[in-house]
Amino acid sequence: MGTDFSNNFTTRNCTPSDHPRIISVMNDWWAGRDLSHMLPRVFLEHFCDTSFVMEKENSLIAFLVGFLSQSRIKEGYIHFAGVHPQFRGIGIGAFLYDRFSENCLKNGRSIIKSCTSPVNKASIDFHKRIGFQVLNGNSETDGVQVTLDYNRPNDPKVLFKKELYLSPNCSKRHGQKQAT
Ligand SMILES: CC(C)(COP(=O)(O)OP(=O)(O)OC[C@H]1O[C@@H](n2cnc3c(N)ncnc32)[C@H](O)[C@@H]1OP(=O)(O)O)[C@@H](O)C(=O)NCCC(=O)NCCS
Repeated sequence: MGTDFSNNFTTRNCTPSDHPRIISVMNDWWAGRDLSHMLPRVFLEHFCDTSFVMEKENSLIAFLVGFLSQSRIKEGYIHFAGVHPQFRGIGIGAFLYDRFSENCLKNGRSIIKSCTSPVNKASIDFHKRIGFQVLNGNSETDGVQVTLDYNRPNDPKVLFKKELYLSPNCSKRHGQKQAT
């Protein structure tokens, strides 16, 4: 099991009313990369059951927005996850990914996918540390496989995949931790 944050933080499913506060922190949390246009409100209207916010005394500490794929019945997808810069490195990101993993397993989903930009080295390292593999792409940036022109021209992405064990007791974090 990962760290238990229940003494200090509240974790709950998102509601649509969380949307303004989530997009208001994204520019800051992503170090000036304003990606808020990629998280329209529709995600919080339709994927509340698989999306979470963590709070401390009503302040937003972290969030994860994910969904169960409608087209790929074994897969869940994490669209965005962010942790307040002052609360990084203590296991909150891994904790929220675990929450999503549990939800996936309960719904018969044994694969989680996610993606990030090659410039986001922290995200690449984080995903590898918590057991994601980088999928083969059609190019390479700084030794990492990338898929070019992913959402539009000149938009490379690093694609991730993690296979979950169907028994949640099989291992820490429901999957193999990758050696780095
Ligand atoms: C990426 C992010 C979500 C990680 O959250 P976090 O709470 O700091 O991560 P955790 O503390 O749970 O770390 C889990 C593991 O990843 C590793 N890790 C986390 N950030 C890392 C970094 N910047 N570099 C190297 N390893 C890192 C941790 O060391 C830990 O490994 P360990 O268990 O062996 O100690 C956070 O840095 C963030 O919000 N970044 C900005 C938004 C973003 O890029 N989101 C991801 C793409 S949507």
